[in-house]
Amino acid sequence: MRTIIKGGTVITAADTFAADLLLEGGRIAQMGADLPAAGARVVDAGGMLLLPGGIDVHTHLELPFFGTVASDDFYTGQRAAVFGGTTSHIDFAIQHKGESLHQAVENWQHKAQDKAVIDYGLHVAITDLNDTVMAEIPSLVSAGVTTLKLFQAYKGVYQVDDATLFRAMLKAAEAGMLVMVHCENGDVIDFMIRDNVAHGRLATEYHARSHPAWAEAEASLRAIALAGIAGAPLYIVHMTCAESVDQLRYGRARGLPVMGETCPQYLFFTTDNLRQPDGAKYVCSPPVRTAADNDYLWQALSAGHLQVVATDHCPFLFDGTQAIKYEGENYQKPGKELGAGDFSKIPNGMHGIEDRLLLLWTYGVNTGRISANRFVELTATNPAKIFGLYPRKGTLAPDSDADVVVWDPAAELTVDWRQMHMRVDHNVYDGRRLRGRPRQVFVRGELLVDGSAWHGRRGAGTFLQRSSHAPVI
Ligand code: URP
Ligand code: ZN
Ligand code: ZN
Repeated sequence: MRTIIKGGTVITAADTFAADLLLEGGRIAQMGADLPAAGARVVDAGGMLLLPGGIDVHTHLELPFFGTVASDDFYTGQRAAVFGGTTSHIDFAIQHKGESLHQAVENWQHKAQDKAVIDYGLHVAITDLNDTVMAEIPSLVSAGVTTLKLFQAYKGVYQVDDATLFRAMLKAAEAGMLVMVHCENGDVIDFMIRDNVAHGRLATEYHARSHPAWAEAEASLRAIALAGIAGAPLYIVHMTCAESVDQLRYGRARGLPVMGETCPQYLFFTTDNLRQPDGAKYVCSPPVRTAADNDYLWQALSAGHLQVVATDHCPFLFDGTQAIKYEGENYQKPGKELGAGDFSKIPNGMHGIEDRLLLLWTYGVNTGRISANRFVELTATNPAKIFGLYPRKGTLAPDSDADVVVWDPAAELTVDWRQMHMRVDHNVYDGRRLRGRPRQVFVRGELLVDGSAWHGRRGAGTFLQRSSHAPVI
């Protein structure tokens, strides 16, 4: 079907201009003034902004973690994403011990199969690197998986040592791949967790006390230095504090190919939230920090020290002893209550896939902290460039995929988890008044969200084969 979106204002990372968009064959066929509408469905976008669909490069749909499973799957999480204006995402296929990397990718493809409603890519997370796995790395590129992830934390689960990280970096650089790292000193954290537990310091706030900012900063600088030695591009996920972003700035100032991401939870919450009766909702790793860190991160986004806002979407029910209804079906899974009385057992992770653009618009664009163009850059264009999807995704231009958000900058909402679409029983932003939200969302030219109506189809989403040798920006 041909669709013309008429009378809107296009926002890209670089420009703001009035144009009609003709969507045809899943692509943007034309952009320009007064495009003829004959034979096309016409969407009146007067007073609306037209944004490229958001790209969330950090999600964990249906991740088995802390003895349970993240509550959104590839259907519920992607559906929520679209309601929030995100039209593609990249999830992490985690290698289980003894498995090949291709097996990990296959496992995650299986999770997505028949469920995906939007396009998705996969990173592969290496947890067990031996010579056979090393030799496999370059072959991931032809499978469209051009990014590796390694963890310096979660000792005994995902953590790798420096030699493993360094070897993976060398191999990735050779193959034109990007290495992503969760930067925290897992040995120190493991010691602090055990020590706190042994001394009966079990309250939720001890999660943050066991994950100090300098443990993140130390690991960040270590990863940056290793990337410098290996000559490998590095992307540090979920940066939370001044101490670690300063390390990134130090590396970038010296010309190292290093980039960083933060996520909404680190812009809004502090360790005070962990002391609330529902503090477990805010438990993620690295932890939420201080109000000064929130401010520092906002400034880093506006000054260009950080390149991406993703979500680390990894939701768990707050009370997994109770079933919730999702699209009329009961859903129940153990959640944050697993850590009642012992912070070390609280499943780590928070929701965000539907919230990201709404929050960043209200608290970033409406407050003047970032421009609308920078908003697009941080949430769509930079993610597409860094992760090998540009210009197919991440911008509005002739021949790009017709992933278009008709954004109503005047629409208001009060966050209420019951009105949202993530499969969770709470929303940590509940009660916040937001201004600016998607009115319609098109994915490859198909109208998936129209106001509160959902038209997505399970199985319509396709796997994104991404390019290697993506730029460092
Ligand atoms: O707490 C978090 N961040 N959970 C998801 C896994 C990770 O470390 O990204
Ligand atoms: Zn992580
Ligand atoms: Zn993550």
